[in-house]
Amino acid sequence: MKVINKLEKFYDKNLLLIFEDENNYCDCIPEDGKKLIEKLKEKNSFTGKRSEVLSVNYFVNDTLISMDILGFGKKEEFSENILRETLFKYLNGQKGSILISSNSKELGNTDIICEIVGNVNYYFDEFKSEKGKKIDVDFFSFDNIDITEALILNEATDVTRELVNLPANIINPDTLAERTLLLGKEFGFEVEILDENKIQDLGMNLLYNVGKASVNKPKLIVMRYFGDSSSDEKIGLVGKGLTYDTGGLCLKPADSMLTMKDDMTGGATVIGTMCAVAKNKIKRNVIAVVPACENSINGNSYRPGDIIKSMNGKSVEIINTDAEGRLALADAITYIVRNEKVSEIIDVATLTGAMMVALGTFITGVFSNSDDIYSKLENSCNKYGERIWRMPLDNQFKELLKSEVADIKHMGTRWGGAISAAKFLEIFAEDTPWTHMDIAGTAFDNSSKWFKKGASGVHVKGLYNYCKER
Ligand code: BES
Ligand code: MN
Ligand code: ZN
Repeated sequence: MKVINKLEKFYDKNLLLIFEDENNYCDCIPEDGKKLIEKLKEKNSFTGKRSEVLSVNYFVNDTLISMDILGFGKKEEFSENILRETLFKYLNGQKGSILISSNSKELGNTDIICEIVGNVNYYFDEFKSEKGKKIDVDFFSFDNIDITEALILNEATDVTRELVNLPANIINPDTLAERTLLLGKEFGFEVEILDENKIQDLGMNLLYNVGKASVNKPKLIVMRYFGDSSSDEKIGLVGKGLTYDTGGLCLKPADSMLTMKDDMTGGATVIGTMCAVAKNKIKRNVIAVVPACENSINGNSYRPGDIIKSMNGKSVEIINTDAEGRLALADAITYIVRNEKVSEIIDVATLTGAMMVALGTFITGVFSNSDDIYSKLENSCNKYGERIWRMPLDNQFKELLKSEVADIKHMGTRWGGAISAAKFLEIFAEDTPWTHMDIAGTAFDNSSKWFKKGASGVHVKGLYNYCKER
């Protein structure tokens, strides 16, 4: 996408964005064009209700101009998410080149238009003989608008989507680490990979045990970006990197297992965020860690009843091998606190089915022990239409983690399962301000009306903006 202020070619379609009962078209339309539009609106009793389209065709010299006027409803009822939803609905399925214009400031929001074009143009088609066809969108404006940041955000979001959509026979802890190394070179951040020996040397036994039954042994992916040498503040991001979750010995039923290639979405999200942070060269220091492993089965699987010593030093009684994410994350959180010395942590994880039951598939549940961080994160996510909702962290849920045989166990009861999972993670953050985003419902087949099926890429933009504005 580009912003142009001079017509240099003809487009397959000219798209005009208008509010209901308004007729201030872009100045790029000639006077007789405007007159024709007014007549046709009247004749078709078109007023510009939300998603209403009026097609107008006319000649300029010998060229047929094809124009669609797209309504967004009443200006008083406008919200950025209406722009997202209406534009996505219209653009998804269009072909060829499209020139968008609008005289309204709200509708001509190029950051959002760019975001939506990115959503429309992403296809997971690597394994399809027939490839998705991208639309070629430009925006007309006399203003000087820079969309570089928005384009980089799309690129970073697509990195995340691709890593998530790729199946587990392609993305395993090894290949995820390799791809992250390449991304670090391409986007400009440091990557260090700690292998299974290093993981054991560091005492990250929870992570090691979750991943040891797979032929692809666990890896700890560490990414570092230093954009502000004058500060020792470091934002720490941690992303769950289960490249596949069979449930382990507590095997998942087949239909719950089907989408478990997406169990590394938290990891892919922080990788995508690092791409955006580094390529936009923001003035912050950001460290991201992904505990990458596969929850698989062999004769060496970890089992219910096992007692494992965490990197933090606490012994953990294993109850259900399908509650593996919090184990891998616990050691990663200890690592980022102790070894990277970050000043705050945000972890992102497809952690619990309970979260999905509670909030559905377009709102992420967020737990935080810092009001300030939560409110900044909420503003950042809202800016990109990413819905989040704050969840409670009552200490009563921590009591459920008491164990008869170890310092703690890793899960409570079914009721409030997303909260007891969060309480488990909170222990490992110790005194560092900590925030946890449970994206089990929003990572894949997010039902916000401007995403395609499959990986949503949600929160790459929100987390990028959080780091930038922090
Ligand atoms: N990866 C799953 C959570 C999940 C479920 C993500 C559905 C996306 C969609 C996680 O590892 C898991 O299996 N959690 C269990 C925990 C339970 C055993 C305490 C769950 O939610 O059922
Ligand atoms: Mn699981
Ligand atoms: Zn999982």
